[in-house]
Formats: sequence, C-alpha cells, structure tokens
Amino acid sequence: MSAKNQIEKEKVPRHVAIIMDGNGRWAKNHGEMRVFGHMNGVNSVRESLEAATDVGVEYLTLYAFSTENWDRPIEEVSALMDLLVQTIVKEIEGLHDNEVRLEAIGDLNLLPKKCKEALLEAIQKTKNNNRITLVLALSYSSRWEITRAVKSIADAVKKGKIDPEKIDQTTVQKYLETRNYPDPELLIRTSGEKRISNFLLWQIAYSELYFTETLWPDFKKENFYEAVVAFQNRERRFGKISEQTTI
Ligand code: IPE
Ligand code: IPE
Ligand code: MG
Repeated sequence: MSAKNQIEKEKVPRHVAIIMDGNGRWAKNHGEMRVFGHMNGVNSVRESLEAATDVGVEYLTLYAFSTENWDRPIEEVSALMDLLVQTIVKEIEGLHDNEVRLEAIGDLNLLPKKCKEALLEAIQKTKNNNRITLVLALSYSSRWEITRAVKSIADAVKKGKIDPEKIDQTTVQKYLETRNYPDPELLIRTSGEKRISNFLLWQIAYSELYFTETLWPDFKKENFYEAVVAFQNRERRFGKISEQTTI
C-alpha cells in the first residue's frame, strides 16, 4: 500500500522544508561526475513538489545552494548556476500551469546576473498563483539571514522606528527572509547526514526532523509521503506534557 493512503488529510504539515543532499555521492555511485547527480536531482524536485501539492502542503522550501556552497570548486558552482537557469527556463510554464508560486530566500545579489534575472522573472510571473508556494533557498544560510535581520533591527532602532524595549520574537520574525511563511512543521534531510548545515535555524525550533538514507536523486513521491506519515506519527509537545497535547 502506498504511504499516501496512510496520510491523514487534516494533519498534513502546512510547510515542509527539505535539505536536498547526496547528489555528489549518487553520481559517484553511478560512476559519473558530480554534476550528473545535480541534474538528476532536478527530477526529485519535481517529484517532491508534485507530492507536496497532491497532499495539500502549502509551502515547500528547498535548500538548493548554501552560502558555504560558494566555496566548492568553481566548475561545480558554475555548473550548478547553469543548471539553475536552465531548470527555471524549462520548468516555468509547467509551474505556472500548476498554479505554483515561486519564491526565493537568500543573498540573491551573489547569483550570476543571468540566474538572478531568470529567477526574478519566474517569481514575477507566478506571483499571483496560490496552490502551493515553492521557496528556493539559494545562496542562503541561516546565520547570514539572522545577521542581516539584527543589522536591520539595529538600524530601525537608530532611526527611532523601533523601541528596543518592545523587541520580541515577532519583531525578529518580521525581519527574517521567511517573514511571510509559517515555520516548517517538518524538515527532511536526505543522504544520511544528520545535521542542519546552516538552514532555517530560527524557524525549525519546533520542527519535526526526518532523516533518510535515500540520496536526493533517488527521492521520489513515495519517499515524500513516507516522511509525511512519519511526521504524523510523532507527538509534538512544544514543551508541554503528553496529557496536555492530546486534549
Ligand atoms: C546536494 O548534494 C546539492 C548541493 C549542496 C548543491 P551534494 O552536492 O552536497 O552531494 P554530496 O553530499 O556531496 O553527496
Ligand atoms: C547542505 O548540503 C546544503 C544544501 C543541500 C544546499 P551540503 O552538502 O552543503 O552540507 P554539508 O557540507 O554536508 O554539511
Ligand atoms: Mg552534500
């Protein structure tokens, strides 16, 4: 039986975030160059997006390129940026037809001009869609995001726009890249690594973490459904005790 049939419709997470990891190892296992893994990883993006849309997830955030990934060999970085543009160009019509709203978080100014332009054009084109929001984390890291938020808040205090006494968690949240999204209830990481790698540190305070050995290019719809089922079997206590959460 497909894991999809086990999903309880009324308990589907609104926001799922994925650390798409393992492309390089997948390519190596197939005797290919790392970029071949990235190319095949695009299919898993499509699969996850379709599965997420299908079960009613409202936001899907994909960690596609981290601040630290800029330090990879130049050939790999260039290949990833080329793949990004090609994928956006190729997929944009399909995304639009499926009412996907594309958004991005991260330091987009660091992207090569053609990448940034293709991305902003796709974001603009799909901005009124509302079936699912696909958020690409590109040139993103959580420490970059939080540092930027702190700077902006300090600036607003200096200009007298914010009373420092009144700064609370909501204030901080408003200055994050993710200000318009609910926190992810479920965070998936593929490839067997059990770390966060500078992703959404603030937002995942109470997320359920799901780690799978599956390498990203092998991650299909069924794997996504399995993660949702695992999520639904967790007891989320938010610091309270079990008896308080069941009433
Ligand atoms: C994830 O796969 C994709 C990116 C980080 C861009 P990797 O490229 O990290 O693959 P592994 O972890 O080396 O197998
Ligand atoms: C995390 O994967 C970043 C993305 C998936 C985009 P990495 O492969 O860069 O993470 P580490 O280096 O194994 O922690
Ligand atoms: Mg990796």
